[in-house]
Amino acid sequence: MDRRGFVKLCTGTVLTTAFSQSLSSRAGQIEAFPPAKLVKADGSPLKASEVGLNEAMVFAYPFNGIPCYLINLGNRTAHPQAMDSTDDGVFSNPEGVGKGNHLVAFIAICSHQLSYPTPEISYLRYANEGSELAGKPGRIVCCAHGSVYDPAEGARVESGPAPAPLLPVALDYDAATDGLTATGVVGKAFIQRFFKNFKGDLIERYGAGVYRQDVGETTKAVPLSQYSAVVPAC
Ligand code: FES
Repeated sequence: MDRRGFVKLCTGTVLTTAFSQSLSSRAGQIEAFPPAKLVKADGSPLKASEVGLNEAMVFAYPFNGIPCYLINLGNRTAHPQAMDSTDDGVFSNPEGVGKGNHLVAFIAICSHQLSYPTPEISYLRYANEGSELAGKPGRIVCCAHGSVYDPAEGARVESGPAPAPLLPVALDYDAATDGLTATGVVGKAFIQRFFKNFKGDLIERYGAGVYRQDVGETTKAVPLSQYSAVVPAC
């Protein structure tokens, strides 16, 4: 190849790379929503040090009808990396927060067939101690059809039919108060698909339109075992 051709190829490569990076950086990055402070069932602020290891805590964000999981990774730490979602493009999952960067949060809706925790049942759970399906500790398992996600790796899929990771919730940590505030999510298009698929159930549970409303300045976080009457193991 002559020099002119080489320069042209290099220029094209640089332009293509820059274009795809620009597309990637535009697509699916965390979108800010009105901040919501995480509080306990009695309305008092939830402290990061109060988030237990054994199970996820459930809170709604950014809308009343969107369940999220707050997870204590224990001695594991979250690794930000490029992830690809089905509906919202490429994004980077955030680092963990808290004193040991060990707290992470995700929208608790399985990317396979959108199984999510309800007051009646949750097929999706964090299995700190391991499970038959996961085969190792500290994974999120979906017992609906057998998907496994790793919350320390941006909730990427480890096995099963899920086509994409769980989507992240950004948290702010206040070291002075040990408090946590949800500030944004990836998943605007995913959330719209979820609302469309489960509109009838959500209207019945929350009321027409209420499921789409912002959660407000605070959002209650409760252990999954208190949120859902049945949490199957798998
Ligand atoms: S809905 Fe979760 S694995 Fe199918």
